[in-house]
Amino acid sequence: MTIGEVKHLVEQLATPRVGWRETGADGVEITTSKGYVLQQFLNPAVNHRADRYGGSVEKRFQLLKEVVTETRAQIGDDRLLGVRLSANDCNNHPVPEVKMFFNSTRHLSFKAAVRASVLNAIPDAVTRKILGVGWTYQEAANLADAKRFKDEVGLPVIANGGLQHRSAVQAALESGSCDFVSMARPLLANPDLPEVFRSGRDVPERPCTFCNRCALRTTLFPVGCYEPKRYDSVEEMEATILALSGRPRDDA
Ligand SMILES: Cc1cc2nc3c(=O)[nH]c(=O)nc-3n(C[C@H](O)[C@H](O)[C@H](O)COP(=O)(O)O)c2cc1C
Ligand code: SF4
Repeated sequence: MTIGEVKHLVEQLATPRVGWRETGADGVEITTSKGYVLQQFLNPAVNHRADRYGGSVEKRFQLLKEVVTETRAQIGDDRLLGVRLSANDCNNHPVPEVKMFFNSTRHLSFKAAVRASVLNAIPDAVTRKILGVGWTYQEAANLADAKRFKDEVGLPVIANGGLQHRSAVQAALESGSCDFVSMARPLLANPDLPEVFRSGRDVPERPCTFCNRCALRTTLFPVGCYEPKRYDSVEEMEATILALSGRPRDDA
């Protein structure tokens, strides 16, 4: 990407959609995560540039800095501006990382060579089970990272990831690790979750199981909870999803 193309990118990323104010949005959020271009510039494994946009931490953050500055200029000082940052890129699943380690040490001893060969011969799914390695559900999984952001930047921080119990939300806020929490899957499963919490319940009757079926379907299907265990029938599941996100638009 040439410097001219990067400048064009800044303009494109910093210009909010026409009419966004009329939607009633309180502000905008810059996605600097999920492997999109801004995150690619931050990641030294991806960004090998030797100009003002790469080569040091400051330079890798230069593009984000320009996008933030330009976005603030575009939206004005009366709206919120958020930056969604990943604390960890998690480029590899733990299993490939374990394999990489074993394979890189395979020439050091006969034992290491046998260990690597055995590991390579076993399918990843089986390895995960045997070694107990993998990403598993953990409530408030990113809270420690949120605290690190908060300590470092001194700005309001929204923690996200795996929060579903009222007590966990309360503990996260009271610990001072974050200023707000956000939720995605628990709210898809129970759109009335704030009401459930207000009523004093710690967790909804049919909680999200964090099966990730909803996330896997985002590009093709209406947004909703696709976990059959949470419904009495497939018909109930379909009706619930369509009621949530499949309504025809009023102006259609
Ligand atoms: C159906 C679905 C769609 C999502 N779409 C986006 C998205 O467009 N942009 C984004 O940054 N995160 C997206 N996410 C990720 C969520 O914002 C959130 O980070 C993630 O689900 C973890 O939070 P949770 O444990 O509360 O679900 C999506 C998640 C789900 C389940
Ligand atoms: S599909 Fe699974 S992860 Fe998504 S909301 Fe339903 S139970 Fe939660």
